Amino acid sequence: MLIKELSKSDRKWVSDRTELLFGGDFVVSRETVHNPATLPGFVVSEGPDRIGISTYNIVEDSCELVTIDSLCQWQGVGSALLEAVEAAAKEAGCKTIWSITSNDNLDALRFLQRRGFHIKEVRVGIAAQIRMMKPEMQEIGHYSIPVRDEIELSKSL
Ligand SMILES: CC(C)(COP(=O)(O)OP(=O)(O)OC[C@H]1O[C@@H](n2cnc3c(N)ncnc32)[C@H](O)[C@@H]1OP(=O)(O)O)[C@@H](O)C(=O)NCCC(=O)NCCS
Repeated sequence: MLIKELSKSDRKWVSDRTELLFGGDFVVSRETVHNPATLPGFVVSEGPDRIGISTYNIVEDSCELVTIDSLCQWQGVGSALLEAVEAAAKEAGCKTIWSITSNDNLDALRFLQRRGFHIKEVRVGIAAQIRMMKPEMQEIGHYSIPVRDEIELSKSL
């Protein structure tokens, strides 16, 4: 397993994965629109295959983990991606890292809390507003759970 910074040649793939996971080539967090394909991040590969991506956005001393996407779950890919983003954030002088996920994403909620993130805010029912900007956003998410709420988690670095 090899991890490296995202390069120009990965951008189209990041865009395709974003479409697949989030129903569009952009994601919305705290009412800000991000296009992950234009953000810094990391890619994990195994031989010729890409098996994970993370993207992040630094504002002042705070780093948002915008996306984290493991194509081979439960094998250490997500951990490697998160560690790389945390290291980049610390290097840039960040004091916190934060991320947003939805109420159905039990794997991400578990993964982030196991790695020191705390729930900071729950925006109940906000998915309905996001769907006005992004009608493709799924109604039913992971484990067939209706997607309704946004959960913000953060961690001190
Ligand atoms: C959340 C997510 C990124 C986690 O990625 P992952 O690759 O499964 O993460 P890891 O494999 O590093 O860690 C998951 C668990 O597997 C365990 N694990 C890692 N390597 C292992 C191995 N070789 N054998 C057994 N277990 C292993 C880890 O210890 C960890 O368990 P823990 O949390 O109890 O410590 C992944 O579920 C995902 O991509 N989900 C879809 C995209 C998404 O929803 N992203 C979040 C919103 S942007």
